Amino acid sequence: MVEDLRLDSLEGVGPVTTRKLSDAGVHNVMDLIVRGPVDIAEITGMEKDTAEKIVNKARKHLVEGGLLAKDFISASELYKTRQNIGKITTGTNCLDTLFDGGIETRALTEVYGEFGCGKTQFAHTMSVMVQKSKEEGGLEGGVLYIDTEGTFRPERIVQIAQVHDMDPEKVLDNIIVARAYNSAHQVLILEEAGAIIEKHNVKLIVADSAVGLFRAEYLGRGTLSVRQQKLNHFVHLLVRIAETYDCAAIATNQVMASPDVFFGDPTRPIGGNVVAHTSTYRIYFKKSGKKRIARMVDSPHHPEQEVIFALGEAGVIDPEEAEKKLKKTAKKVTTKIKATVEPTVEPTVEPTVEPTVEPTVEPTVEPTVEPTVEPTVEPTVEPTVEPTVEPTVEPTVDIVEDHGADITSDNL
Ligand SMILES: Nc1ncnc2c1ncn2[C@@H]1O[C@H](COP(=O)(O)OP(=O)(O)OP(=O)(O)O)[C@@H](O)[C@H]1O
Ligand SMILES: [Mg+2]
Repeated sequence: MVEDLRLDSLEGVGPVTTRKLSDAGVHNVMDLIVRGPVDIAEITGMEKDTAEKIVNKARKHLVEGGLLAKDFISASELYKTRQNIGKITTGTNCLDTLFDGGIETRALTEVYGEFGCGKTQFAHTMSVMVQKSKEEGGLEGGVLYIDTEGTFRPERIVQIAQVHDMDPEKVLDNIIVARAYNSAHQVLILEEAGAIIEKHNVKLIVADSAVGLFRAEYLGRGTLSVRQQKLNHFVHLLVRIAETYDCAAIATNQVMASPDVFFGDPTRPIGGNVVAHTSTYRIYFKKSGKKRIARMVDSPHHPEQEVIFALGEAGVIDPEEAEKKLKKTAKKVTTKIKATVEPTVEPTVEPTVEPTVEPTVEPTVEPTVEPTVEPTVEPTVEPTVEPTVEPTVEPTVDIVEDHGADITSDNL
């Protein structure tokens, strides 16, 4: 099977083309599909026609091998293949109900919501759940976690794994973390992900956040279309990888308030329409006191519904679990207080009061007050006021204007 995916297994692809492709980071037949003809032509310098031919051959090859769906397929056949689509449990009844069993492979699930609503907690939880056995609702697969905000926490993975009786070390080993420092790097990680996905049997790719770096780098209306174009490329790449490698993909997206919306929720995903149009499932997380609400916003086959969930040591949890935990800890605290209060009260009071009061009060007061007041007041006032006013005003105006011009012309 592995041999089948080699580039030179395609008819007409000789050693020269193979080298050209692998020099550009395209290592197997799957990568050809993921990158698509336009990208292939751009990165290898080959003619667009040639690139199209090679990608079509790759597609045919994968269809024959049963790895990709045929171009024309009856609905009943499609129904059968969809029955085999993998699902990853969320570890909760409430969110599994919303997702109808769990998040799907070969699809992108976008989770959006304001800060602190649980997007990263959800991504952490799913990174553990995907590793569970198939009987327990997992896919026994690894994770590629693209962390763009530096919020991935292995400690949380350990906690979540422990609550689920899984070996934390093994769970950590199966998560490959890629810290993306800028949007170009974020795209590059995905473009080169093929080998890692195969090596680690990756069944879940997380992009947390998918949008943040693009938003930070392309500010203002003038750059909006470039931002959307680049983001579009990233998100489509993610979808193609999910479809080609049969993995689930999660993209998180923060929302901001948009005052121009008068009806409904005044929050909108900052990724705008690009993410929304590409992702197969869109979930909106919303804070509601200590609880959270998850709403299925856009899905080809789920009803638009809402469920309540909570956040806890085990990541995303059922609300009843959170209540049970609260009651348990409340009980523990009261029994602890009862146990500790009685024996400690009497013996500690008498011996500690008298000896500590007298020796500390007198010696500290006198020596510190006088010496510090006089020397510091006079010298600092005069020299600093006058010289700073005149020289700084004039020269900075010109310099600032020059810089402004440089920066904007660079961008153009
Ligand atoms: N160990 C834990 N136990 C219980 N709750 C926790 C734990 N760790 C984090 N949380 C909860 O998770 C919340 C943060 O959620 P999360 O980091 O997923 O937000 P987010 O949606 O990713 O936000 P942002 O948009 O800022 O990235 C915290 O406010 C806290 O309530
Ligand atoms: Mg987050």
